[in-house]
Amino acid sequence: MNLVHSGKVRDVYDAGDDLLLMVTSDRLSAFDVVLAEPIPDKGRVLTALTAFWLDRLTDIAPSHLVRIEDEGEHAGRAMLVKRAQMLPIECIVRGYLSGSAWNEYRRNGTMHGQPLPPGLQQSDRLPEPVFTPSTKADVGLHDENITVEQAVALVGQRTADEAAAISLAAYQRAADDAAAHGIIIADTKFELGWIDGKLSICDEVLTPDSSRFWEAADWKPGTVPPSFDKQPVRDWLESTGWDKNPPPPSLPPEVVEATSARYVAAYERLSGQLLSDWPGVQR
Ligand SMILES: Nc1ncnc2c1ncn2[C@@H]1O[C@H](COP(=O)(O)OP(=O)(O)O)[C@@H](O)[C@H]1O
Ligand SMILES: [Mg+2]
Repeated sequence: MNLVHSGKVRDVYDAGDDLLLMVTSDRLSAFDVVLAEPIPDKGRVLTALTAFWLDRLTDIAPSHLVRIEDEGEHAGRAMLVKRAQMLPIECIVRGYLSGSAWNEYRRNGTMHGQPLPPGLQQSDRLPEPVFTPSTKADVGLHDENITVEQAVALVGQRTADEAAAISLAAYQRAADDAAAHGIIIADTKFELGWIDGKLSICDEVLTPDSSRFWEAADWKPGTVPPSFDKQPVRDWLESTGWDKNPPPPSLPPEVVEATSARYVAAYERLSGQLLSDWPGVQR
């Protein structure tokens, strides 16, 4: 199959007949650098979570998923999907004030150009979840936060409205589910595209790589809650004094193992299922 795209974490192949095969590797990026050591089962966790959420969201929008590859070396970490005409925006929804949104608020009192109430703290819960789009930058560049008006200029009013409605409904459903399991979804990024004339949910969905998951018990406004999945790696990298330019130091086996366990826990807590039941998993 022809490789059509190779990202930091995933490889996408042309599978013919307007289908794509998306293969999710075990690669992990931290501080924007891909680490040398694979994290066992990370690719399967991301794939399993995407499949789990898409199944929970079918009444909100159609999706690109055709089936999960369940045999061979890519069992459980490759998805056959319908090729979509992707929107040129990323559909972010934020329920909490963090990351680039917090940085903007601290400077200007706004989030993606939209005023917010004064006096909010870092990691605060927003009065309500907000659709906060960004551009989809070319390889090597960073996505840029934009206003809803700028998104309208890129995709048109009706598509922007529909994308916002789908994204907000999907976030709300997932955030409520996750809250019932003690996990906060602070924010998440959807990628939508047109398939057979319908705006559909594509790409990875509500994974640790596309979302900020926090342990609800660790959440405290005014602080940065530990990242559910990457914290052991981040903490260890910080402890080495690495300057965050490649190449990164190589991770000790216990950090690799702790990180893998966190990814598995994220899947098992959110889905209520065992990763050992997922195709290709040997544990
Ligand atoms: N159903 C689909 N049809 C076409 N393109 C898709 C579909 N689902 C996801 N994509 C695109 O495939 C690419 C996957 O790349 P990814 O591995 O996430 O790397 P990166 O995000 O680093 O570019 C993204 O550009 C995404 O927009
Ligand atoms: Mg991506």
